[in-house]
Amino acid sequence: MSQAQSPSSSGSSALVDTSRQGNVLVLTINNPPVNAFSPGVPEGLHAGLDMAEADEGIQAVVIIGGGRTFIAGADIKTFDMPREQAPDLRGFITRLDAFSKPTVAAIHGTALGGGLEVALACNYRVATPDAQLGLPEVKLGVLPGAGGTQRLPRVVGVQKALEMMLSGNPVRAAEAEALGLVDELADGDLLTAAVAYAEAVAMARPLPRISERAAEGSAELFAAARAGLGKTHKGQLAPGLIVDLAEMATQKPFQEGWDAEAALFMQAKDSPQSRGLRHIFFAEREAGKIPGLGKTTPQLEIRSAGIIGAGTMGGGIAMNFLNVGIPVTIVETAQDALDRGLGVIRKNYENTAKKGRMSMDDVEKRMALLTPTLSMDDLKDADIIIEAVYENMDVKKEIFTRLDAVAKPGAILASNTSTLDVNEIASVTKRPESVIGLHFFSPANVMKLLEIVRADKTSDTVLATSMALAKKIRKVGVVVGVCDGFVGNRMIHHYGDEARKLVEEGAKPQDVDAAMHTLGLPMGPFEMSDMAGLDVGYLIRQHQAKVAGQPKPDGWLDRIVEQGRKGQKTQAGIYDYPDGRKPVPSAATDEVLNTYRSEKGLQSREISQEEATKRLTYSLVNEGAQILDEGIAQRAGDIDVIYIYGYGFPAYRGGPMQYADEQGLSSVVADLENYGHTPAPLLKKLAQEGKTFADWDKEKARA
Ligand code: 3HC
Repeated sequence: MSQAQSPSSSGSSALVDTSRQGNVLVLTINNPPVNAFSPGVPEGLHAGLDMAEADEGIQAVVIIGGGRTFIAGADIKTFDMPREQAPDLRGFITRLDAFSKPTVAAIHGTALGGGLEVALACNYRVATPDAQLGLPEVKLGVLPGAGGTQRLPRVVGVQKALEMMLSGNPVRAAEAEALGLVDELADGDLLTAAVAYAEAVAMARPLPRISERAAEGSAELFAAARAGLGKTHKGQLAPGLIVDLAEMATQKPFQEGWDAEAALFMQAKDSPQSRGLRHIFFAEREAGKIPGLGKTTPQLEIRSAGIIGAGTMGGGIAMNFLNVGIPVTIVETAQDALDRGLGVIRKNYENTAKKGRMSMDDVEKRMALLTPTLSMDDLKDADIIIEAVYENMDVKKEIFTRLDAVAKPGAILASNTSTLDVNEIASVTKRPESVIGLHFFSPANVMKLLEIVRADKTSDTVLATSMALAKKIRKVGVVVGVCDGFVGNRMIHHYGDEARKLVEEGAKPQDVDAAMHTLGLPMGPFEMSDMAGLDVGYLIRQHQAKVAGQPKPDGWLDRIVEQGRKGQKTQAGIYDYPDGRKPVPSAATDEVLNTYRSEKGLQSREISQEEATKRLTYSLVNEGAQILDEGIAQRAGDIDVIYIYGYGFPAYRGGPMQYADEQGLSSVVADLENYGHTPAPLLKKLAQEGKTFADWDKEKARA
């Protein structure tokens, strides 16, 4: 976007430039990177309106963003500021709506949240064809708080406004134009088009004001919207308030809805849910920052990938590359396994096409990027090779030895191991600097998390390339260190142990799972184990005992597996699965438990849901603190990102570490001790100092 040419006069505040284009005053917001409505922005905009008011020669005002975007919203960093210090978006919008001369919002990039609310308070909106407009506040646990809930339904209709506000997803400019949200699409330069538009409407009166329009919506529509929330936003505060306010827009004068919105916005903003979601917004962005690495760190270009293993994991990983147009060579040891793997990939794509989310043409285009082979030699040109075979160190070492001989110099050699020592894997190559762990989560084409395991000798270039690659294939990459299970699985191991103990002490598996449902997790620990397959953990336990020379494990869970009950895949595990996927409490499991308890002389006691929730969640937190202390994770926020994108922890809780911060670390320590656990030293220290994990992250970032 070019700036105004040859202004006849100009002025500026720190964040808002003013310039004249004939009889139009242009206010350009310059608050990089995204022109958030930060302190200083309203002051600059008010000064601009003052100027427009005072000068009779100015007949219209254009508001535009400098740099890459229009205003991308209120400044989220100011949400916790005292009210009097926070930028007064509502005050500015009130003035803008009542302004006596025509105002035009010139939109490029993203007009989001408060940004779209500013645009809605202008009389007209002009946008570039690639602009996006939306009210994403729900993703931060709040509602549009500067008129959005009242104005959007008055423009696009209640149904569409609810869809936009409840999903938080933006619409593209062409759709916005069709909806009446945008008055004109700019063909060429945005500013030129917006100034021309402003000149054309300079004398038009009365000024069109969205606040003066009416919105319509039936009782049935709102009832259906409320009923839908149970499915899409279970347990969340803001979505229900959004529906209430949209309904008000149809029933009450604008001013009444506007006032109600202010009060409800504050209620949502001050909720733990909003704190959790805002925490994750920033944690996700922080996770992309690695101390010592920056924009100048060289990166490799990834134009092709090789994948070893066409099983569920390898196939899922391949799809991520195919989806973004990167050709993949996939290797198996036998033709039937290769055919099966390719068949599954094709079927996945065809199912997506059946649901109307891609065309059959796209399916074929993606499949055409995939080259199946039985020979590892065919990986010689790949820029990155990802091994995705089963968890066995000897097998992985053999593969990496082979890869070292085959791969071209500089190629990234990655293992998808979920537990094994990446240093040991790297040690069999002559190029350990090229070796890294890329731990995808199952199903790998769906789950957004990618644990990026930095081994001792992994080069900065390989790490930086892997982070960039994660973004390219639309994953959230989080760097972790080498240890058994890295971050996610190491913590989940303790969670699983705690769940088993709860049952030994008397809880029913379904009660333990229900305790985690109340926190908003879609699955409890036992439902998750049944889905993953109980035999995996069983085999690991048996193997570990054998290696350690200990007797064969004989826990209640081992006994269930020994009855052939391996989980969902055998339609029987801890639960029964009479209709395939829905878990039903099992009499067989009850019997195993009764026998087990009586044989071992275990006394059963009543365990409250509160105790179960605390013990399970704090088992994650305690191990998380230990992981932080060891430097396996860089930040508590990284752990939260891992749990939200890899393990279904609800984003509105902010992840386990943020959840612990909300409870207060001294109460977490007291509870852990009360339940017979030893709190991790870092957790204890922070609690004693009256600090939070967030404080720890901040101190570390400053250090
Ligand atoms: N406030 C403060 N900082 C913000 C911000 C905001 N609204 N939006 C983005 N940022 C920061 C990010 O934290 C990041 O900072 P960093 O470089 O220090 O990590 C930087 O801007 C760039 O952001 P991204 O890395 O996300 O850049 P992208 O180009 O990938 O995405 C974006 C740009 C689409 C604008 C994306 O940042 C985004 O979705 N932002 C949030 C938009 C939003 O939620 N707006 C509504 C705010 S709430 C509101 O307006 C309330 C009102 O109704 C009263």
